[in-house]
Amino acid sequence: MDSDKTALVLGIETTCDETAAAVVERKGDGSGRILSNVVRSQTEEHARFGGVVPEIAARAHVDLLDGIIDRAMKDAGLGYEQLSAVAAAAGPGLIGGVIVGLTTAKAIAMVHNTPLIAVNHLEAHALTPRLTTALAFPYCLFLASGGHTQIVAVAGVAQYVRLGTTVDDAMGEAFDKVAKMLGLPYPGGPQVERAAEAGDAMRFAFPRPMLGRADANFSLSGLKTAVRNEASRLTPLEPRDISDLCASFQAAVLESTADRLSVGLKLFEEIYGPPRALVAAGGVAANRAIRGALQDIAAKAETTLIIPPPALCTDNGAMIAWAGAERLALGMLDTMEAPPRARWLLDANAGVPAGYANSRAGF
Ligand code: KG4
Ligand code: ZN
Repeated sequence: MDSDKTALVLGIETTCDETAAAVVERKGDGSGRILSNVVRSQTEEHARFGGVVPEIAARAHVDLLDGIIDRAMKDAGLGYEQLSAVAAAAGPGLIGGVIVGLTTAKAIAMVHNTPLIAVNHLEAHALTPRLTTALAFPYCLFLASGGHTQIVAVAGVAQYVRLGTTVDDAMGEAFDKVAKMLGLPYPGGPQVERAAEAGDAMRFAFPRPMLGRADANFSLSGLKTAVRNEASRLTPLEPRDISDLCASFQAAVLESTADRLSVGLKLFEEIYGPPRALVAAGGVAANRAIRGALQDIAAKAETTLIIPPPALCTDNGAMIAWAGAERLALGMLDTMEAPPRARWLLDANAGVPAGYANSRAGF
């Protein structure tokens, strides 16, 4: 594959509760442009269950995906024969949805004789800042969403070292669970953020998980339990209690995040030297208080903070198309045998320096 050529890639995302397709262009100089980006969130379908129901998500992907791909192609003004490749998120995620997206991509690849690229969803988050910014490797990624909480060294395409991860709940999941126990609607992150604005962060001294530890891992379930215990002690909850609980919870998350990231950045420097940037992605990066804390952490580490625009931080098709385009430029194609994967470690095949490999399996 000639990496100097301009490539047009269709990307498909179905690993969780967003059905999404997009077309991006990658020029030979490495710059990117989004030609279309269609996202249909299934929030309404799942809201009354207080979380994502895998069977409902898979069914919704089946119903929606063809129309969304059609829309993305029309918005881009392209025919399938003009595509350089089709990319799909092949995991990690809810297996039913992953199968729907990957099978659809394989069908398109087969019918139109187009190369197929099976993208790791986490890799797509990791490479997204290069779609909108001329960012060189290596950089440090903080990914915090409903399913993932990781600190990752991004050394190149397909060169990732996971420096830290959560040992229990994902950060967005903790926000969602706290919201649920306080009677706030799903998805809970934005609700907790809003309630926290009016609250007193000093009223409850919740634990700051993992503070001072030499590794860069996160833990959120103990904090979540502490909030639950305090909430049941106070029941029935007044609006004031809810605000104070949210503010105190968020303050604990902020302090823990700052501590974990400062260790992560130190580990990064030991391997690669100073990072070109600290990059944040995932739904939690939409939280203004967390963005503020990240700004401080980046300033202390004397690096730049890059947060892609919100629509590219949360799950979308453009990030899958872009990761596909980056792989295509390096000739990294997949075959029709590419498997859908519920679990797929980002650094599974990377040369992880001794002592930095994190043994915990998972996303
Ligand atoms: O990246 P995302 O859209 O989807 C995946 O989970 O992959 O992230 C959604 C998560 C949810 O858990 C949601 O509650 C959380 O991100 N989130 C937030 C905020 N906005 C979304 N968490 C805290 N504060 C927010 N403002
Ligand atoms: Zn995601």
